[in-house]
Amino acid sequence: MDSTLLEVKNVNKKFGGLVALDGVSIDVKSKGIVGLIGPNGAGKTTLFNVITGFTLPDSGTFSLNNKSYFPGSIHKVNRAGISRTFQNIRLFSKMSALENVMVGRHHITKSISTGVFGCLFKTKKFKKNEKEIREKSLQLLELVQIRDKADFPASNLSYGDQRRLEIARALATEPKLLALDEPAAGMNPKEKEDLKRLLLKLNSMSISLLLIEHDVKLIMSLCKDLFVLDRGKIISRGSPESVQKDSGVIDAYLGK
Ligand SMILES: Nc1ncnc2c1ncn2[C@@H]1O[C@H](COP(=O)(O)OP(=O)(O)OP(=O)(O)O)[C@@H](O)[C@H]1O
Ligand SMILES: [Mg+2]
Repeated sequence: MDSTLLEVKNVNKKFGGLVALDGVSIDVKSKGIVGLIGPNGAGKTTLFNVITGFTLPDSGTFSLNNKSYFPGSIHKVNRAGISRTFQNIRLFSKMSALENVMVGRHHITKSISTGVFGCLFKTKKFKKNEKEIREKSLQLLELVQIRDKADFPASNLSYGDQRRLEIARALATEPKLLALDEPAAGMNPKEKEDLKRLLLKLNSMSISLLLIEHDVKLIMSLCKDLFVLDRGKIISRGSPESVQKDSGVIDAYLGK
C-alpha cells in the first residue's frame, strides 16, 4: 500500500465573518493523483492557498511525508516539498520563458557563495550555480515541451503554453507534491489532452498531484480519489464513480 504523503487535518479559515474553510481534512497518497472539486466559492483555492503558505490558516495541522510543517511562508512550503500553480496565471510577462523558470529555481539554490557578494563579483561558484540553474530550467522546458520557446517573453506564449510554463516553474523547486489550481481552465480540447499526458508523465516520475479542476471528463480520467468541498466543508470523498452518485454532491452542484 502506498504511504500518505500530504496530511492536512481540521483546517479552519475565516475571512471576517465568512467561514471559508470549516474543519477541512484531506490527504494525498504518495504517487497519488487526487482531485478537489466543488461549486464556485466552495473554498478550493483558499485551501490551496493555506496548504502552500499563501494564506495563514486560523487552525489546522499539516504534514508531508510524516513530517509536520507549518505553512507560514511560501519558501518553507517549497522547501518541505510542495509547489503549486495558480487559477489565474501568474508569470513575469516581460521575462522570457526560461527566465521565469530560473526564478523558480533560484528559490531553492540560495547559498553564501551566490548571495550579494557572489552576484556583485561574479565568483566562480556564482557562475557555476547560474549555469546549473539554466541547464535545469531548460530541461524543465523540454519536459513540458516548450523548450523551443525558451527565449520568448512569457506574454507571447499561447494560453496553453503559459499554463505549461507555470508547471515548469513550479517543478523548478523539485516538489514531491504539485498542487494545480484549474490547470485546464481556458484550454481547448487538444491542449487538455496534451495536459493530461503531461500530468500522467509527471506522476510516473513519482510526483504526486493535487488537482482542482472543473472539467469533469479530465478529472474523472485522471483521479482515482476525489474530495468534494462545498461551503467550506468536505461533503464527500471517494472514487469518481461513487462521488458522482452521492446525493449530497448532486444537491451541492444543483444549488439545493
Ligand atoms: N482574501 C479573501 N478575502 C475575503 N474573502 C475571500 C478571500 N479569498 C476568498 N474569499 C472568499 O472565500 C470563499 C471561497 O473562495 P475560493 O476562492 O477559495 O473558492 P473556490 O472554491 O476556489 O471558487 P472558484 O471555483 O470560483 O475558483 C468565497 O466566498 C470567497 O469570496
Ligand atoms: Mg478557485
